[in-house]
Amino acid sequence: MTARRTGWGCAALLASAILSGCGGEDFTPAEKATIASLSLADLPPLPADPTNKYADDPAAAALGATLFFDQRMSRDSVVACGTCHLIDRQFQDDLARGKGAGVSNRRTMPLAGVAWSPWMFWDGRRDSLWSQALTPLEDQREHAATRAFYAHFVADSFNERYQRIFGPLPDLASVPPDAGPFGTEPQKAAWNAMSAGQQEAVNRVFANLGKAIGAFERSLAPQETRFDRFAAALASGKSTGADAKLTAEEIAGLKLFIGKANCSTCHNGPRFTDDGFHNTGVPAVEGLPEDLGRATGATQVAADPFNCLGAFSDAGPEACGELRFMVKDSPRLTRAYKPPSLRGAATRPPYMHSGQFATLDEVIDHYARAPAAPSGASELHPLTLSERERQQLIAFLKTLAN
Ligand code: HEC
Ligand code: HEC
Repeated sequence: MTARRTGWGCAALLASAILSGCGGEDFTPAEKATIASLSLADLPPLPADPTNKYADDPAAAALGATLFFDQRMSRDSVVACGTCHLIDRQFQDDLARGKGAGVSNRRTMPLAGVAWSPWMFWDGRRDSLWSQALTPLEDQREHAATRAFYAHFVADSFNERYQRIFGPLPDLASVPPDAGPFGTEPQKAAWNAMSAGQQEAVNRVFANLGKAIGAFERSLAPQETRFDRFAAALASGKSTGADAKLTAEEIAGLKLFIGKANCSTCHNGPRFTDDGFHNTGVPAVEGLPEDLGRATGATQVAADPFNCLGAFSDAGPEACGELRFMVKDSPRLTRAYKPPSLRGAATRPPYMHSGQFATLDEVIDHYARAPAAPSGASELHPLTLSERERQQLIAFLKTLAN
């Protein structure tokens, strides 16, 4: 019945300020194409991860899920990945800066759809899920333990499960209980005193833990939202149930988002990110060390021994195009960050890489003003947005969160 609603039926819907697209006559063909490209229906299949041959092994993913939530995976047995990446909070923690053994300099990132992302972290300093997972484990502000500690932990607590997936564990009898290249001075000294063979054996177990966790994280897919139901109805030309409708204000916000406000220049595709790095002039946080974003991240991912080209990657160099051909030394990388997905963003303040903004009003105000960047050059241009238009943009962002 609703499918036949055209003509006066559409006018009646307009009158109640609820639009469904009414067959789509409210949008230009270009707008319709852009809306379709933002819809979850356009999400490509889960990309393969050739760097991790266990990426699609269910036993590895199950072990990874266990490790993700296991607080024993830390110096004091109180921090798990799930401490900051909360399962019922879109895998983030609502804090300006993540809190583990200490306080991180950056905000915890939500994880839905992360397997589609070529670069990890706000600055892309890792190029795979498994190499990313190794980083917080050895960060003094996060899990704060060492790779030798984790190797022993797995041998003690997950021996059989590990060996069923990854094959025999190395003999760790002569490996010190607590040693790693990023630990305290004694932990670093213990690491440096180990033979190359011992270091390689521990690195292999450590990399495999990352591969199990990475396999688990591949299951965290973005969820369908009201916007997606609306986009599907628009694409099919049929108006459907009430849950596929957007209000006039939400539609106006959508038109601003893909039009005059230029948001979809960077927040595009079904994950609302172009997977690149942009300087948007977000202010620095007083008291934190200088943060140069991608300028540092590009150097770090190139030097990471666990990257796509490294000894622990299962991929040949031909699979490492992103890493081999990345931009490494452009002034545009200074304070450039990865545009986060905007799916779910409306319900998880604060915003930006160190939680600089407390509300979406502050975010929109920042985009309207387009202030000069603390360093490097902001890519933004000031926008003239009325108060009503600002609220329309926010109303649209909320359709991505339910
Ligand atoms: C202390 C809080 C904390 C803990 C514990 C923690 N993370 Fe994070 N996570 C963060 C923060 C903060 C960032 C962003 C850091 C940055 O960009 O420098 C992040 C970023 C990430 C990202 C990148 C997402 C993206 O879109 O680029 C992934 C994936 C991730 N964490 C997974 C994990 C895993 C797996 C573990 C456990 C091994 C873990 N995290 C432990 C706080 C934490
Ligand atoms: C030039 C690229 C670019 C444009 C244009 C752009 N963004 Fe962003 N957006 C980013 C980047 C990069 C970040 C992260 C910046 C940071 O943390 O320093 C971001 C962050 C955000 C966040 C915070 C999300 C979170 O989880 O912290 C929101 C919300 C947002 N943008 C909305 C918008 C809206 C609305 C527009 C249009 C008015 C817009 N963006 C235009 C690149 C862009």
